[in-house]
Amino acid sequence: MTERLRADPAGIARAARLLDAGRLVAFGTETVYGLGADAGNAMAVAAVFEAKRRPHFNPLIAHCLDADAAFREVCATDLARRLADAFWPGPLTLVLPRAPGSTVCALAAAGLATLAVRVPDGAGAGALLRAFGRPIAAPSANPSGGVSPSTADHVMDGLAGRIDAVLECGPCAVGLESTVLDLSGAMPVLLRPGGVPVEAIERLIGPVLRVAPSSTPMQDAPVAPGMLASHYAPSLPVRLDAPGPGRGEALLAFGPLPDALRETGLVWNLSPRGDLREAAARLFSGLRHLDDEGRAQGLTGIAAMPVPAEGLGLAIRDRLQRAAAPRPMAGRPAALLQRVVG
Ligand code: TXA
Ligand code: MG
Repeated sequence: MTERLRADPAGIARAARLLDAGRLVAFGTETVYGLGADAGNAMAVAAVFEAKRRPHFNPLIAHCLDADAAFREVCATDLARRLADAFWPGPLTLVLPRAPGSTVCALAAAGLATLAVRVPDGAGAGALLRAFGRPIAAPSANPSGGVSPSTADHVMDGLAGRIDAVLECGPCAVGLESTVLDLSGAMPVLLRPGGVPVEAIERLIGPVLRVAPSSTPMQDAPVAPGMLASHYAPSLPVRLDAPGPGRGEALLAFGPLPDALRETGLVWNLSPRGDLREAAARLFSGLRHLDDEGRAQGLTGIAAMPVPAEGLGLAIRDRLQRAAAPRPMAGRPAALLQRVVG
């Protein structure tokens, strides 16, 4: 059952309590409705991907109450502060390096070293962020591949029964997604055109590289982020569907460990009880742990045990497959970026 909550004080308080309990609440912003979860709760964020039936982990936007809250999660630059002053609250998302003290879980950022933040406009979103008191991770509240919802009815059409509540915030004023601007590199890069015209941004901060053609449909999977090779991958090679670790390999386990593997050296079990949501929640922290510790211990690879190809398992397998694929451009995002735009 998906509760429909009015955006009055009682409804907002209820929505905030649900988020606090790790539940999923869709809410209206000025752009489109977002499917919100506590950004610091990896199990809740895993449930977002599950509800959307997304076959891969896209990084999510952390929605924050104000610029101060946003700039606690990311390292602000001078450009970022100027843009925040001019356009927040509003339909602009900034991608910046994560702050050391960021409270957002690794899964919400798909394991990246950067994080997308924005301060949404709209009374409902603002009241919910104030009541909840922490960042809310939210992709658009539609099933993967579908059109972004701009009313609570649209949200219900796509996600009724799969999420805990929708906060009725009325129709979205802008109706298309936020502009996504990557400020983590040497040059600002437009990753997705949206509610704030790129010309308005350029008037304020000068030239912006355009990776996304302005005709890019506003979809779940814009070409840009993937092309920028910004996805996290461990530096140790990953071996897929391994029954156990070979010589010199760390083990990324899933499910109860067979006796023969109990003595294995470096192990990260995604979910000893074989729960895919828990596995998704622990995936990126596990890859980082095995990569860092494995290299420190002189290991030469990571053996990944099989994960079922269903539900969130599809997204986990997609991520592991990317980690296992040859990566000629790994560690050279700048070179790749030049190739993409030049
Ligand atoms: O207007 C909006 O932006 C709506 C409302 C709910 O805020 N949200 C939205 O979220 O459209 P979503 O998940 O559908 O799209 C977020 C976009 C994706 O294209 C994602 O790849 C990109 O932002 N993104 C998020 N974090 C990123 C990062 N660290 N680096 C590069 N791109 C990132
Ligand atoms: Mg979307």
